[in-house]
Amino acid sequence: MASDLLDRVRLGGGVPSHVAVIMDGNGRWARERGLPRHLGHREGMKSVREVVEGAVEAGIDILTLFAFSTENWKRPAREITALMGLLQLYARKERAELRRQGVQVHVLGDLDRVDDATRSAVLEIVEGTRGGNALRLNLMISYGGREELLRAARALADRVRAGELDPADIDDSVLEDSLFTRGLPSPDLLIRTSGEHRISNFMLWQLAYTELHISPVYWPAFDRDHLFEAILDYQRRERRFGRVSVGVEAS
Ligand code: FPP
Repeated sequence: MASDLLDRVRLGGGVPSHVAVIMDGNGRWARERGLPRHLGHREGMKSVREVVEGAVEAGIDILTLFAFSTENWKRPAREITALMGLLQLYARKERAELRRQGVQVHVLGDLDRVDDATRSAVLEIVEGTRGGNALRLNLMISYGGREELLRAARALADRVRAGELDPADIDDSVLEDSLFTRGLPSPDLLIRTSGEHRISNFMLWQLAYTELHISPVYWPAFDRDHLFEAILDYQRRERRFGRVSVGVEAS
């Protein structure tokens, strides 16, 4: 059943084309219920399903989810194993349904650090959903914004050393072509759950002019109506990209 909020999103016009999400609060959600942290992550997987379906309903083109950061490698081995297991479970369980919905999955990040079973599971879902044209879903795995920029700097330096690139020609588009997100527009909207006001090393280059929506809700409790509320909040914003408002003359 279409929700009233979805109707308002559709009437509001200007649905964000690219929405990125920092899914936070799984641990606190579990602790408040006296449960182990991994059950918070497991419940968080349901919210992933919710938000993917909501994104398709709302007409979002690209949804980018921060599933595992470079900093997450510092968590206890048991929790890392649980998170990798969940990624595998998600890749195996959801592939057919995502395909049916027309969702094309991409995985962005340093997959060399990920164990073989997880890497092959996520590459299978990428393969199995190829051609979906309702929504592009980017799963950011072993991803860090600083690492992404360092990789880009090294790649560009290599091309300069090889005589293929003049440093004076390095502009926004040359740098963007060296990022994991090459070819993609920057996010229009970033949602962070659990009330934290931080970027946490996520898409440092790409978020330069992105609108931020901080939701107080823990990720496992976040559902499609929360996504629609975030979009409605976005639709009330005036995006100026450093310029003055339309109709305001610079004096
Ligand atoms: C942050 O909560 C969340 C994560 C580190 C992982 C996000 C993973 C999922 C939602 C599970 C599955 C994902 C996919 C794409 C299938 P936290 O542990 O930092 O929470 P806390 O700040 O309350 O401790």
